[in-house]
Amino acid sequence: MKMVPSLKVPQRYGQLCRKHLQSKGALDLRYSIQKHSDGTVTLPIVPSSLPQLDDLSTLQCSVAHGSKCEIVQIQAQPSKKEKAKCCSEKLVEALQDQLSSHGVRWNEDLKSDLPQSWQRHGDLVVIGENCFTLPAWKNIGIELWSTVAHGLGAKRLAQIKQISKDCFRTPLVIMLLGDSHVTHVDNKIRYEFDITKCMFSFGNITEKLRIASFNCSGETVVDLYAGIGYFTLPYLVHAGAAHVHACEWNPDAVKALKRNLQLNKVSDRCTVHQGDNRKLPLEDLADRVNLGLIPSSEEGWPVACRLLRRDTGGVLHIHQNVSSAVPSTDTRRQAALPASDEQIAAEGEDKTRVSLNAPRGSHRDREAWRTWAEDTATRCAELLTDLAGGAWRTHIMHIEHVKSYAPHIHHIVLDLECTPL
Ligand SMILES: C[S@@+](CC[C@H](N)C(=O)[O-])C[C@H]1O[C@@H](n2cnc3c(N)ncnc32)[C@H](O)[C@@H]1O
Repeated sequence: MKMVPSLKVPQRYGQLCRKHLQSKGALDLRYSIQKHSDGTVTLPIVPSSLPQLDDLSTLQCSVAHGSKCEIVQIQAQPSKKEKAKCCSEKLVEALQDQLSSHGVRWNEDLKSDLPQSWQRHGDLVVIGENCFTLPAWKNIGIELWSTVAHGLGAKRLAQIKQISKDCFRTPLVIMLLGDSHVTHVDNKIRYEFDITKCMFSFGNITEKLRIASFNCSGETVVDLYAGIGYFTLPYLVHAGAAHVHACEWNPDAVKALKRNLQLNKVSDRCTVHQGDNRKLPLEDLADRVNLGLIPSSEEGWPVACRLLRRDTGGVLHIHQNVSSAVPSTDTRRQAALPASDEQIAAEGEDKTRVSLNAPRGSHRDREAWRTWAEDTATRCAELLTDLAGGAWRTHIMHIEHVKSYAPHIHHIVLDLECTPL
């Protein structure tokens, strides 16, 4: 039983401390972060970083807002990455045996044709499309998929081809073994959906947790791109929003959204608007509007501005894939370009791994984010004046990095405060 040194903090500061430790290279990624019944979390620490953390009072003041932080020894639990490594090894062994019983010799090409990452939804594992491409696998026949599922510790197996370019961003997922109904529990919220009909982005977990930490009591929130409720549900279940208007035009996602609202017992505080959000017949009611669409939610900016309360204003949470791969003078135009096929397909990969190791952006990236945020703030102030009347001030409250989407392209969220003058 291996014990590892860990930082113990109240759960509400877990994310902030994780980011802090990660930025110092002190978070031990071999082990998982553990939640405890006393409301604390423990974050495993790289032993050689312990001397740097000697002075816990600094961390306590600057990150945990005065709450107690202590170093404890905790029984180690392997991280998802370590578990994945172990699964990969088991899979190689099982496939070697199976191929040799079909007279095929194992080689390095076969090894590199195995999935490098996958998504897990309970007993269903989703692999990417760039694996099992060699003809040798055909020798095994459909038994191959039971071996792969078993090797990866699952009962069902699916393969994501890409996120389609239709307006619903439906994933092109094919089932290789078993049925496609999925249950996913995240931060005590239960989501059910059909994996072949609705998308579920693992990479947005940090944003879901951030929303869950907001205090939205008494607020009316509009979620313009609700999907199956990825953000709508944290607003209702954890942030305590008084009411959420959830807009979605994909009938399959709407069906799953309504079911998820019921499963989490929050249907009475949510109105689902099925259809194109640009035609939403509402205005002047929202304290917050969530615009969770990438690569860009720009088409939703006018409706979002119309929805904000005219007496007090409110906050827009604007998602965007921002590219720093072009000269910064051209960032705005580039930022709104749709992602290439390759980038869309990459969304199917295991973003748990990416989000744990995600670079927080280089200096150039951050400059591009700032330029885009400033352009957006100016544009929204103009839209507010045109659509809601009077003069408005927009203020960049925060820029949140959600995930690295592709080289030089980052998914970010701008929190834009909009105030009528
Ligand atoms: C990428 S999903 C985002 C879901 C969730 N916000 C997230 O980030 O995980 C975008 C959702 O917005 C929906 N959508 C896109 N454009 C829309 C529009 N104009 N009106 C209503 N729904 C729309 C799509 O059908 C899809 O379910």
